[in-house]
Amino acid sequence: MRELSEIIDALRRDCDIPDDELKMLIEADDSEAADTLRTAADEVRRENYGTTVFLRGLIEISSFCKNDCLYCGIRRGNHDADRYRLDPEVILACADEGYRLGFRTFVLQGGEDMYFTDEVMCGIIRQLREDHPDCAITLSLGERTEESYRLMKEAGADRYLLRHEAASDELYSKLHPAQMSLENRKNCLYTLKRLGYQVGAGFMVGAPYQTTEHIIADLRFLQELRPQMIGIGPFVPHHSTCFAEAPGGTLQLTLRLLGILRLMHPAVLLPATTALGTISPIGRELGLKTGCNVVMPNLSPVGVRKKYDLYDNKICTGEEAAECRGCLQRRIESCGFAVAQERGDAVGFGGLDQQ
Ligand code: 5AD
Ligand code: FES
Repeated sequence: MRELSEIIDALRRDCDIPDDELKMLIEADDSEAADTLRTAADEVRRENYGTTVFLRGLIEISSFCKNDCLYCGIRRGNHDADRYRLDPEVILACADEGYRLGFRTFVLQGGEDMYFTDEVMCGIIRQLREDHPDCAITLSLGERTEESYRLMKEAGADRYLLRHEAASDELYSKLHPAQMSLENRKNCLYTLKRLGYQVGAGFMVGAPYQTTEHIIADLRFLQELRPQMIGIGPFVPHHSTCFAEAPGGTLQLTLRLLGILRLMHPAVLLPATTALGTISPIGRELGLKTGCNVVMPNLSPVGVRKKYDLYDNKICTGEEAAECRGCLQRRIESCGFAVAQERGDAVGFGGLDQQ
């Protein structure tokens, strides 16, 4: 068996290692290995992106959801959830404010809300395209039909974020109701890619019942899919779900996986997520130092932020867009990185099979 430092070198060199070594690295709870992995991930990120960090302005358009994912605070079955949806004019106004603040990517994210039909979404996307032709439009609206994805692409959307959540059928079915399937989720991701979207997939770290083998399945699936972005963050329990008492994902495991993902996918866009900032006051900074190159500050109106309640203690629910923008800029610069005022496509994107 190779030493951990040799395993990290091999992962950096080949972007791959066998399952047994991956298991060792995922489970390596020692600070020396963590330092080595962080340094390697940081170097690879610098080789590809220098010190640049891209901003994505997140607009949470609806907390209505027809799904019932067991871990999620806005699941249909949570009758205590306070629901809202933003009017198209409000969404466009959030984007205008974001543009003034220097954002050049907008992410429209929401639960699976039937109000946002293809017609409504395409209207918003077309207007956004017209208002801000130099910006990227990212959607994160869950599972929809191929036709819907196609229409929204034609209306001007560029990217789509859809975490696969769990690449093991067994774990996927423990975290989701029987009506949802991993097969459908994966089909959506492949469809989005085929339609020419830049896609983001990902999973929660430390989700209930998750084992190292499940995480290895996630990493293998990501190698197969080759998304432009990979979003991972710790699972954080929500008080009105059946996992209220489950332990959350840890900072150390999340950082290890971020480092591993940077080495496996040198040019991928890797966000330091809000969930990571929720479990540690310096979580996002540590993420940035471990290979992350994207942050997604919130542009939603402050009045609705607490209602987009995926998990407990979510940060940034009281801050105005400008405050989050300023706060993140300071945090990014404190790590020796610089905010980019540009769309921020993954390097090497442009062909059919990127990276
Ligand atoms: N803890 C952490 N992340 C969560 N998400 C949903 N619920 C939780 C939770 N309790 C994540 C899912 C989803 C993304 C928008 O938020 O992975 O894809
Ligand atoms: Fe929102 Fe810091 S990022 S307050």
